[in-house]
Amino acid sequence: MALMAERVMTTKKGPILSRRHVIRFSWKLVIMISVFLCLLALFKLHLLYELSSPTPLPHPRSRISSHSYKGPAKIAFLFLVRRNLPLDFLWATFFENADAANFSIYIHSAPGFVFDETTTKSHFFYGRQLNKSVQVSWGESSMIEAEKLLLKVALEDPANQRFVLLSDSCVPLYNFTYMYNYIMGSPRSFVDSFLDVKEGRYNPKMSRKIPREKWRKGSQWITLVRKHAEVIVDDEVILPVFKKHCKRRPPVDTRKGKLNLKLQKQHNCIPDEHYVQTLLAMCGLESELERRTLTYTLWNQSAAKLESRGWHPVTFSYANASSQKIKEIKGINHVYYETEHRTEWCRTNSTSVSCFLFARKFSQGAAMRLLSEEVFWQL
Ligand SMILES: *[C@@H]1O[C@H](CO)[C@@H](O)[C@H](O)[C@H]1NC(C)=O
Ligand SMILES: *[C@@H]1O[C@H](CO)[C@@H](O)[C@H](O)[C@H]1NC(C)=O
Ligand SMILES: *[C@@H]1O[C@H](CO)[C@@H](O)[C@H](O)[C@H]1NC(C)=O
Ligand SMILES: *[C@@H]1O[C@H](CO)[C@@H](O)[C@H](O)[C@H]1NC(C)=O
Ligand SMILES: *[C@@H]1O[C@H](CO)[C@@H](O)[C@H](O)[C@H]1NC(C)=O
Ligand SMILES: *[C@@H]1O[C@H](CO)[C@@H](O)[C@H](O)[C@H]1NC(C)=O
Repeated sequence: MALMAERVMTTKKGPILSRRHVIRFSWKLVIMISVFLCLLALFKLHLLYELSSPTPLPHPRSRISSHSYKGPAKIAFLFLVRRNLPLDFLWATFFENADAANFSIYIHSAPGFVFDETTTKSHFFYGRQLNKSVQVSWGESSMIEAEKLLLKVALEDPANQRFVLLSDSCVPLYNFTYMYNYIMGSPRSFVDSFLDVKEGRYNPKMSRKIPREKWRKGSQWITLVRKHAEVIVDDEVILPVFKKHCKRRPPVDTRKGKLNLKLQKQHNCIPDEHYVQTLLAMCGLESELERRTLTYTLWNQSAAKLESRGWHPVTFSYANASSQKIKEIKGINHVYYETEHRTEWCRTNSTSVSCFLFARKFSQGAAMRLLSEEVFWQL
């Protein structure tokens, strides 16, 4: 301590510096140095951990009650919507033909939006919105957060054994009983997942946490078994990497001038087309999947050529939703994955089936036409 005081004294050389001042100053200095050394040590530890730890995987927390559940199993229908459910009248008919003990409904809508007599025509949706929701920006990681919230709330009911994610423009293509047996009959999740080799969405900066060989792409519209829903809800490792390195490229903004050059070089990534697929691949769960989606989407290839900004889903209007068109969709029994040269023959629990139980995107007019087709639900 004295030595320290000496040094301070000699460097300061102030004749008015009393001994008491010097001592107080030295103490301050000692404390400051200690705090600095502490921080330095912590920082080093952090670096060491970051560098040495192998890719950590989410540890599913045990939810014992769910695994021992023996009652009637429910399918949880999870609607991810902007505000209301424009096709509620069609879904109401679908649910009317179901046993109330066999399904549950959860809706993620804009924060504060309530489903009641004034906002929906169907009692099935009253009060079914999540009490806690986030503002979703399409194509950004808030979309994944909304999906996770839906799964988290639905997992609270141990009767929910399957989780179907749907958009506000999705329609069912079969009656409830058929759908229930199709989905429940398989011990696997239905997750569209394939190698993404063509587009530059993978950001090499992720490689420490997400190796390139685990990077996957696929449709956001998934159907999960409980175990996989838990993995997604419990993940605290992969999502932060996505938030940092998988972002949508902002549109060119002339006001930003030269900054645009840098922004346009950024990897253009759409998190909801990669997150679940990549996470499940990283957890070694791909063998527990039917690697295809249950939701049909028609892509507009001519728009892709014109705009070179990726494909756009086509919206079916009244004119397009003919029973012939629906029959065609229901007749599809395989999907070809170009990047893997893989043909997926659609099956559930080893039985050959049609690939799609749902379809998007349907306008209200298109949904009305479906409802008016007498044969629709029996097909
Ligand atoms: C929202 O909160 C109310 C009141 O606590 C509850 O009755 C309702 O089930 C909650 N909604 C969901 C989807 O959990
Ligand atoms: C409801 O589920 C039970 C089995 O859990 C099944 O026997 C019954 O057929 C289902 N009802 C409908 C309408 O699918
Ligand atoms: C799946 O198929 C096997 C063999 O046909 C059958 O024993 C089993 O019960 C089926 N699983 C379900 C959940 O239907
Ligand atoms: C496909 O995209 C093109 C260009 O954007 C558009 O003109 C056309 O109407 C679209 N087709 C359908 C069926 O939506
Ligand atoms: C939908 O119907 C309109 C009008 O008949 C037609 O121009 C358009 O090509 C159809 N789109 C699809 C995807 O069938
Ligand atoms: C449901 O659909 C299946 C197959 O599409 C059909 O065999 C069955 O009769 C339908 N059930 C009802 C209640 O309409």
